[in-house]
Amino acid sequence: MPTRLRALSRGFTSRSVDGFVGAVGNTPLIRLQKWSEKTGCNIVAKAEFQNPGGSVKDRAALGVIRNAEKLGLLKPGGTVVEGTAGNTGIGLAHVCRARGYKCVIFMPNSQSQEKIDLLRMLGAEVYPVPAVAYENPANYNHQARDFAKDLPNAIWTDQFDNVSNANAHYESTGPEIWDQTEGRVDAFVCATGTGGTLAGVGKALKERSHGKTQIYLADPPGSVLHSYISSGGKLTERSGSSITEGIGQGRITNNLGTFVNDLDGSFHIADEKSIAMLYDLLDTEGLYLGASSALNVVAAVELAQKLGPGKTVATILCDGAYRYQSRLFSKKWLQTKGLESAIPDHLKKYAVLD
Ligand SMILES: Cc1ncc(COP(=O)(O)O)c(C=O)c1O
Repeated sequence: MPTRLRALSRGFTSRSVDGFVGAVGNTPLIRLQKWSEKTGCNIVAKAEFQNPGGSVKDRAALGVIRNAEKLGLLKPGGTVVEGTAGNTGIGLAHVCRARGYKCVIFMPNSQSQEKIDLLRMLGAEVYPVPAVAYENPANYNHQARDFAKDLPNAIWTDQFDNVSNANAHYESTGPEIWDQTEGRVDAFVCATGTGGTLAGVGKALKERSHGKTQIYLADPPGSVLHSYISSGGKLTERSGSSITEGIGQGRITNNLGTFVNDLDGSFHIADEKSIAMLYDLLDTEGLYLGASSALNVVAAVELAQKLGPGKTVATILCDGAYRYQSRLFSKKWLQTKGLESAIPDHLKKYAVLD
């Protein structure tokens, strides 16, 4: 940058942030009024849908790329490769544009055309591959890893097992929650996909509170983590399924593994409860949220009830409903999942799509 321009940018209003990357994080902490009153607690939720790429995964995407740059694994003009069907790919595609990298995404070919189109609109090269189990070498994660291995100046970001994902939350999300509650956060709960958010925030809050803040995991149907935690460490076969996206897990990832033994407990949340909460939060708070956010709030309410009045319980609002609205607000789709009756009668008016 020419000296004159550098001086100009240096003198620019100190309230601005630098580009997309500078806008990641520092999201508001929203006190949910109805559920706070009902429980006699402060239920507070981090508005991660306000990140510039629209989800909590912007932090992880930035974290893994920054770490690769720091280690010299990624140099200007390099390529970032990931296997992802959702928000991580979107976060990576944004950060890659902002940093001048090429972005390559492998995803199961069972995903919607909208997701593929969005990633392509964000400049990513997208490879839909057969939707096969993790154990199969043709699984999208393995294909991403192999693609990066053969390419110079390329990284496979490996969101599940690369702990710079959890570190991003340890360095940003956790300290932000601590500061925004002025250190008065009795408990934190959220669901996990990679486990990055839970492990990173959990570690940051445990450290700052000298172990006093309790950290819980929330789990959807089809995930093994609740039974793993409540049985004291037995991994069961995965069974059942959930309409939530981006969460639920069949194994202990490296990211979750950094913290799993420090958890204070876990909650299993049925889809019926998540759907009812999704519509309730829209009706009472005006918040238009994805299903994982609704599940997190159900868990925060159950945790508040368990701890008793007067406590502050924090959780995460991972993303908005925009990426899922054709399902979550479709009567027909909810019927096919046996979930239409989960919407309280007075809130059925919001299910406006056929
Ligand atoms: C919508 C949504 N919620 C929650 C999560 C879980 O976050 P983490 O991967 O940090 O466990 C994800 C992850 O992709 C997500 O896309």
